Amino acid sequence: MSIEIPEGLTELLQSFTVEVLRNQPRDLLEFALQYFTQLKENETKEASFGNDQNSAPRLGKAVNFIDEAMQIDSENGEEDDDDDEEFIAPVINRFIRRASVCAEAFNPDEDDEDKEPRVTHPKTDEQRQRLQEACRDILLFKNLDPEEMSQVLDAMFEKFCTEGEHIIDQDDDGDNFYVIESGTFNIFVKVDGTEKLVGCYDNRGSFGELALMYNTPRAATIIATSPGALWCLDRLTFRRIIVKNNAKKRKLYEAFIETLPLLTSLEMSERMKVVDVLSTRVYSDSQQIIAQGDLADCFYIVESGQVRITMKRSRTKTDQEEEEVEIATCSRGQYFGELALVTNKPRAASAYAVGSVKCLVMDVQAFERLLGPCMDIMKRNIANYEEQLVTLFGSSPEIEQQTA
Ligand code: CMP
Ligand code: CMP
Repeated sequence: MSIEIPEGLTELLQSFTVEVLRNQPRDLLEFALQYFTQLKENETKEASFGNDQNSAPRLGKAVNFIDEAMQIDSENGEEDDDDDEEFIAPVINRFIRRASVCAEAFNPDEDDEDKEPRVTHPKTDEQRQRLQEACRDILLFKNLDPEEMSQVLDAMFEKFCTEGEHIIDQDDDGDNFYVIESGTFNIFVKVDGTEKLVGCYDNRGSFGELALMYNTPRAATIIATSPGALWCLDRLTFRRIIVKNNAKKRKLYEAFIETLPLLTSLEMSERMKVVDVLSTRVYSDSQQIIAQGDLADCFYIVESGQVRITMKRSRTKTDQEEEEVEIATCSRGQYFGELALVTNKPRAASAYAVGSVKCLVMDVQAFERLLGPCMDIMKRNIANYEEQLVTLFGSSPEIEQQTA
C-alpha cells in the first residue's frame, strides 16, 4: 500500500520544526497554535492581496515571518516600517524566552571567522601556563587544530569565584563556557520546580557548553562550594570555533554512530549530541588505554582496530603474585570503560591496543547526561561480564562487588 504525502506537508512541518528549534518555546502546544494561526492569517491576508492560496512557497514565508518578528525583538521593539503592509506583528514573542539569543543565526558551514573581530585577553606566561594545564583534558578542545586551540586560549579569561557564588542559573541565557582550574561546584537541576542536586565538579572538568551549543537556556544551576578559579570562553568564540568544529565532526561520524547498537535507544538528535561531546584518541600497538584499579573519567567506543581487555588474577588461591589474563576483545563499534562509570568504582580491568587503534572517547559528565537511556543496555553487558568471568575463572568476585 502506498501512502501519498500531501503536497506541502514536508515544507510545513520543516518550517515549524525550524521555528521550534530556534525559539525553544516552553509551551510547545501553545507555540504551535500561535504559529499555525498566524500562518493561516498571513495566508488569508496574502490571498486578499490577490496571491494564490495553495502555493507551497508561502510556507517558507512563515519562517521569514517569524525571523522578522525576532528581528523586531532584537532591535528593541522598533518595528521596520517597510514591512508594515506585509504582515501583522506576531504575538508569538511571548512564548519566545530568549529571542535575542535565538535570533543569533549560526551556520557552521559559513566561514565567518574573519568577519568577526577575534577576542583576545592578554595573559602573562604564568597565566597561560595555568590555562593550558586546566584545558589539557577538556574533550571539547581535543579535536581542535593548533591554530583553533591558540585562538581559544587567547580568548579565554580568568574568573575567581567565592563559596556560594552562582556561576550559572538554570534557564538563563548562555554567556560563557567554563573550564575549572580549581574549586568545587554543585550541579542543581529543577525537577518539578524543586532544585535537585545531581552532581558536582571537583577541581577539574568544564561546564556551560549546552546552552552555547544548542542555543537553549541553561540546563542546570552551578554553585561554587569553595573559592575557585575558572577560565571562561565567551559565547561567540565558542560558537565560532567549537560549534563549527562539531559540525564537521557530526558529518564525519554520523554514519558510524548510526551503526552503534548501544545508541539505538537514543533519538537522532540525542545521537548527534553524543557526537558533539566525543573526541578521538589514537593508540599504538600494545599501548595501555585503561589501567585496572585507576579512577575513571571517560568511556570508549572502538572506531578502528582491536582492544584487548585483561584482568589481574592471582596465579593460585594462595599465591600473591598476579598475572594478567585476557578476558575479552573489543572491535569496531564495541565499547568499553563504561563499567567504572556505571558503578562508580575503579576500573575493573585493563585495556590495551592490538595494532593501531582509534577510539571515540566521551567524558564522564557527558556520559551521565547523555547515556542515561542506554543504561539498561549497559547493565545487560555487566551480566555478560559476570558470565564471562565465571566461565574463565569459576567465579567473578570483582564484578559481584562492583554491581552490588
Ligand atoms: P548549560 O546548560 O550551558 O549550563 C549548565 C551546565 O551544567 C550545562 O550546560 C552542563 O555543562 C552542566 N551540567 C552538568 N550536569 C548537568 C545535568 N545533569 N543536566 C544539565 N546540565 C548539566
Ligand atoms: P571499566 O571497569 O570502566 O574498565 C575496564 C573495562 O573492561 C570495563 O569497564 C568493561 O568495559 C570492560 N570489560 C570487558 N569485559 C569485562 C569483564 N568480564 N569484566 C570487567 N570488565 C570488562
